[in-house]
Order: sequence, then structure tokens, then C-alpha cells
Amino acid sequence: MTHPGPHNVQLVDATGAKEPIGLRIIEVPEDVNRTMLRDATPGFIAYVPSGSIKRGEMLAKTGDSGRTVPCATCHGEGLKGIGDIFPPLAGRSSAATARQLYDFKSGARDGRYAALMKPIVAHLTDQDIVDLTAYIVSLQP
Ligand code: HEC
Repeated sequence: MTHPGPHNVQLVDATGAKEPIGLRIIEVPEDVNRTMLRDATPGFIAYVPSGSIKRGEMLAKTGDSGRTVPCATCHGEGLKGIGDIFPPLAGRSSAATARQLYDFKSGARDGRYAALMKPIVAHLTDQDIVDLTAYIVSLQP
């Protein structure tokens, strides 16, 4: 089990107790002491639901028969981004990635190029967002 710690960092309970992950991605620091000292060298570990990376890969690569559009069309090979308009996605933080997808869908993110993302997320379910995020964060930046 985990709980929110200082600076919104999710911390693993010392009890070692377990809980089902459900429809969540849980991201915890690799080295909590270094992270609390704002050392950016150690990374984070994202725990994702079983099967989500594989399903996310299918969605990202095929668009699942038109429900969305293959992400590499705009975000490039390996989702590493293209030029100034199409940002890199590979290996980003899971919280940030899922948040952007929700925000494009709700309209909270409405910048100059956000219109290009609106049809992409229009039909995505929470499950799709978790699966796509799991796949994206599994990629090498
Ligand atoms: C038609 C082109 C296009 C396609 C296809 C596309 N995107 Fe995007 N995406 C964009 C653009 C343009 C932006 C930047 C929008 C902005 O500047 O606000 C963006 C931004 C994003 C962001 C936010 C990144 C950041 O740095 O904030 C995420 C996450 C994202 N896309 C995920 C996806 C996923 C997942 C797919 C495939 C299911 C996908 N995109 C397919 C054009 C596209």
C-alpha cells in the first residue's frame, strides 16, 4: 500500500501491506530520501495494472479501429516528438501524461495546438487513458 507524502510524493507504507491496484497507476520514488532532498538523479517506479502496457501499445499503434489515431503519426517514431509542435511522450511521468489526456478531453487544456489532440481523446475511456499512459511511460525517452 502507498500514501501521499510531503510534496505530493506517493510513499510506500512501511507495513508492507498490499492492496489491489485497480484502475490506477502508482508512481513512487526509487530512492525516497534522495527525492525528498530534490535530487533528480534517482527516478520513479510506475506500477501499472497487469496487461495495461500491452493494450496501451495496441491502442497507440493501431488506434483500435478508429477509436483514436496512432500516436506516432504526430508524435513520431518511438513517440520521441517531432519539431516544436509535437511534444515527446516516451518515458514521461505517468501523472503528467494521464493528466494531459484528461485535460484535453475536458477542455481544461486548450492551448494553441490542443485542437489537434481533441479528436484523439474524444472517445477514450478512463481504462484507455490508464492503458495508453502505462505504455507511454514504459518507453525509453
Ligand atoms: C493529429 C496529430 C496528433 C496525434 C495523432 C496525437 N497527438 Fe498528442 N499531441 C498533438 C499536439 C499538437 C500536441 C501539443 C498540443 C499543445 O501544444 O497543447 C499533443 C500533445 C500530447 C500530450 C501532452 C504532451 C505534453 O508535453 O504536454 C499527450 C500526453 C499526447 N499528445 C498524447 C497522445 C497520444 C496518447 C496519442 C495517440 C493515442 C496522440 N497524442 C496522438 C498532436 C497529436
